[in-house]
Amino acid sequence: MALDANRPDLTVGVIGTGAMGRGIVQVAASGGIRVLMTDARPGAAQEARGFIEKMMLRAAEKGSVTKDEAVAAVDRISIVDGPADMKSCHVVIEAIVENLEAKQQLFGQLEEIVSPDCILATNTSSLSVTTIASGLKTPQRFAGLHFFNPVPLMRLVEVIEGLRTEPWVADALMMIGKRMTREPVRLKDAPGFLVNQVGRGFTLEASHLVYEGVSSFADVDRVMRDVGGFRMGPFELMELTGLDVTHPASELIYNQFFQEPRYRPNLIMKSRYEAGVLGRKSKRGFYEYDAEMKAIVPPEAPPPQARPEAVWVSGAEPQGRAALLDLLKKLGVSVESGAKPSTKALILVTPVGEDATTCAVEQGLDPRRTVAVDTLFPLAKRRTMMGTPVTDSGYRQSAHGLLAADGVPVTVCRDSPGFIAQRILAMIVNIGCSIAQSRTAEPADIDKAVTLGLNYPNGPFKFGDVIGPERIYRVLASMYRIYGDPRYRPTIWLTRRARLGVSLLTPEP
Ligand code: NAI
Repeated sequence: MALDANRPDLTVGVIGTGAMGRGIVQVAASGGIRVLMTDARPGAAQEARGFIEKMMLRAAEKGSVTKDEAVAAVDRISIVDGPADMKSCHVVIEAIVENLEAKQQLFGQLEEIVSPDCILATNTSSLSVTTIASGLKTPQRFAGLHFFNPVPLMRLVEVIEGLRTEPWVADALMMIGKRMTREPVRLKDAPGFLVNQVGRGFTLEASHLVYEGVSSFADVDRVMRDVGGFRMGPFELMELTGLDVTHPASELIYNQFFQEPRYRPNLIMKSRYEAGVLGRKSKRGFYEYDAEMKAIVPPEAPPPQARPEAVWVSGAEPQGRAALLDLLKKLGVSVESGAKPSTKALILVTPVGEDATTCAVEQGLDPRRTVAVDTLFPLAKRRTMMGTPVTDSGYRQSAHGLLAADGVPVTVCRDSPGFIAQRILAMIVNIGCSIAQSRTAEPADIDKAVTLGLNYPNGPFKFGDVIGPERIYRVLASMYRIYGDPRYRPTIWLTRRARLGVSLLTPEP
């Protein structure tokens, strides 16, 4: 069977015209496709049509389409009474309530109405495409077509093949996605599909390190913006989405993966979710809000004036040592050249995935004078440092004062394998690798989907290749060794490419 996705009379049905359905209708009609839409709530489809008309006319005023194009797009949309009127559709997309029974019932009904080669697609965000299809007589023509909110602004669409989906179905949906002016990415059904799986690396690892007492919400957000290059920190993002969405989705993905530790949620999110402290929508979340709903961000303390008497830098990590020496040179600091620190020197280490304690103990250094600096990322915008639990406060203060001497802010966190940014980024890369290893999607498509769907500055593979697969591997391997938690075990995809010294994008025949 096949569908000519380019046929000029292509007709798409959209069921459910809420936040998502109306966006799907808008992009389909804008792409020259005839659309039939319906909603179970009386008047809802009319409201949606009015909304789309307003949006299209606004786009015409802004000049992104002509007035004639906007009017023509709206004219392509027809409201019908229900699924029974969708007989002429070549594709029907469902965007109704997120409930397995309701979706299975709707598709069961549609199967009896539409022609045998009509594609049935779900916009579910969290249910398994394969599970929804399992209730159907013709699961082979069923697939996921997962749009992102708000649809007209978010260009990504995930085309998801269930276990029994035939290739022609995804082929056609890829074409139709393009006709809708979207950027489709093809993948196999998996919990969280692609984008929502990778997103767990960012939000969950951030929550884990706050839960563990390593840092505060505001500091993690600052580090991920300034050091990681993210537009928003993980907690700012959760504030916007709301923990009523993020937490249940996290629990679902974790359980759908049979309690895979990589996706394990934690109490930071759960207890806030249960207490109704959800984020902006409840006017209180990780941050408090003022009357204009501006987040009240705790200010950073000014850096201390203290400076060390002498500085010694460990050579255990040659790349890290070179980066730190470069910075210290710019700051006009002279560094001891001996193989061992002098008796009074501040001892600086540059760990990759290790905590300051492990560095001090394993390198035979005095833990009371040891401070670790994160050199895995550029040091231009913000620096991250941490001591061991016994680092003397004078040495902490002087290290902080020294690193902030040129006015660049310094984040001080508690001792942590991988500081803040190393561990969050390593988790994102590791999850991307696990998606590639399981053949859920191709590496290049994973990067494309993540940058478009999550607005990250890079996808997992680009992040990993820039830092270096070997160093990402070591961050995870050290965390795994120090915590003994399989959550941090490096995936086999990452391990092999790190050992071979090749790009993480390297495919396997
Ligand atoms: P919504 O609540 O805004 O809209 C759902 C619409 O479906 C409502 O207008 C409702 O009256 C209608 N409806 C419910 N049951 C129906 C039925 N049996 N037949 C016909 N119409 C019915 O929900 P939203 O946010 O648009 O979500 C729709 C689907 O899209 C869900 O499966 C959701 O998980 C998924 N999704 C949502 C995203 C989001 O950010 N809101 C993102 C991606 C997917």
